[in-house]
Amino acid sequence: MTNANASGTRGLMHEEPLLFERAHRNAEAIALPGIADDTADATLADFLRRTPAGIPGLSEPEVVRHFVRLSQWNHGIETGFYPLGSCTMKYNPRVHEHLVRLPGLADVHPEQPEDTVQGLLALLYRLQQALGEISGLPHVTLQPAAGAHGELTGIMMIRAWHDSRGDHQRRIVLVPDSAHGTNPASAALAGMRTVELKSAANGQIDLDELSAKLSDEVAALMLTNPNTTGHFESRIADICARVHEAGALVYGDGANLNALVGKARPGDMGIDCLHINVHKTFSTPHGGGGPGAGPVAVNDTLAPFLPVPRIEARDGHFVIVREDEHSIGPVFGALGQVGVLLRALAYIMAFGREHLHRIAEDAVLNANYILHRLKDAYHVPFPGLCKHECLLTDKLQNRHGIKTLDIAKRLIDLGFHPMTVYFPLIVHGAMLIEPTESESKQTIDAFCDAMLEIAESCAKGDIEALQQAPMLPIRTRLDETSAARRPRLVWKDDRN
Ligand SMILES: Cc1ncc(COP(=O)(O)O)c(C=O)c1O
Repeated sequence: MTNANASGTRGLMHEEPLLFERAHRNAEAIALPGIADDTADATLADFLRRTPAGIPGLSEPEVVRHFVRLSQWNHGIETGFYPLGSCTMKYNPRVHEHLVRLPGLADVHPEQPEDTVQGLLALLYRLQQALGEISGLPHVTLQPAAGAHGELTGIMMIRAWHDSRGDHQRRIVLVPDSAHGTNPASAALAGMRTVELKSAANGQIDLDELSAKLSDEVAALMLTNPNTTGHFESRIADICARVHEAGALVYGDGANLNALVGKARPGDMGIDCLHINVHKTFSTPHGGGGPGAGPVAVNDTLAPFLPVPRIEARDGHFVIVREDEHSIGPVFGALGQVGVLLRALAYIMAFGREHLHRIAEDAVLNANYILHRLKDAYHVPFPGLCKHECLLTDKLQNRHGIKTLDIAKRLIDLGFHPMTVYFPLIVHGAMLIEPTESESKQTIDAFCDAMLEIAESCAKGDIEALQQAPMLPIRTRLDETSAARRPRLVWKDDRN
């Protein structure tokens, strides 16, 4: 089997058995102590292993080669273009990896006394300050470990604020139907009831629908700006004013901050509370699930409710505040995902206050360039300029029996990671493409050429390769229904 990547090179790939299937018991990759029959320390006796651990018998090179080969099956941001809409899969500069491995940062214990980690605390405090300025919401917690975790934290703070005013009946969170699935899930986890807002025909929040659903039971509106169609909520100031007039607060999903960074501040728009997916906007993309960090920035209203512990500067010294009267308490075991947070700070500092806006400008320019090149070949559900990601659909290709899934799978054969598919849910056959600022014009052109090639094959009725794709990677088209409904999660040794 062969595999193509974005640069067009091909590598030979073979099926890769599990380590357990490869095992031959006479080898060891790591020397473990033998199993003791007894021990001088009677208190430990009960805890000693009596049977072998069942670790596959393999030598170190066999284990290393296994994992390196598996890693080569994957498409990563370091192997090719990764235009996953809403995920901001930007390049993670190598210097970040050097930085986070410095012993003074990598080797400290999360519970180390604050006097011994003043340098690290200074960096994290600096990040708090920077995120406060970038968002226009000056008070920041670095604790949440993902965007969704930030959502949960933010809604918990909003709930605590309402409770502190005796507004215990405010338990509804309004969520537009275009929202990312984590929004209603996080609100529900925070003990709230979600009510869906139907979007207007242009994909934006429908002001009449919003006003009709606002009541003295509503705690917050959760919105994403730019929204998940890649468009800026042009009535954002009005939206926030209506929510505030009704006694509720506005929660901003900051996953799309890449379109705004250095140009516009959610706090200035009227948003009260915002999580920032620093693992998107400020590098360390977390394709595949983690690690991430979702700091939350809030205005003065919500500041007393921020989680503890948090870092404060007092007389040139950094202190960890562990208790605060109104705080919702800790939401993470330590100060936050320090490695991800430091990478974010490095990215921010590399641009500096003066050049941060270039992130958003280049990201938006790249998305609009793609939109411009593809707009005649693919249906554009919401015309006009987009922000940092552009939304297309498969409407034109449907006529030839081709759907979004086929287009996405064919992209794999052509060397690209597919875009986000079938999201946002309000758009039939959605394809959400987010190039970020890190890509060159050559790379973006190559992607557009591939998309145009697919559209042209469709138009000519030449659809066999599309329906069978992907044919080049080691895993071809999967039965996704069975994978989801009947996953095989346990390995059974059926070799004998
Ligand atoms: C719009 C939006 N909101 C929230 C999230 C959740 O962020 P995370 O994956 O860090 O939990 C995502 C993630 O993709 C997103 O795209």
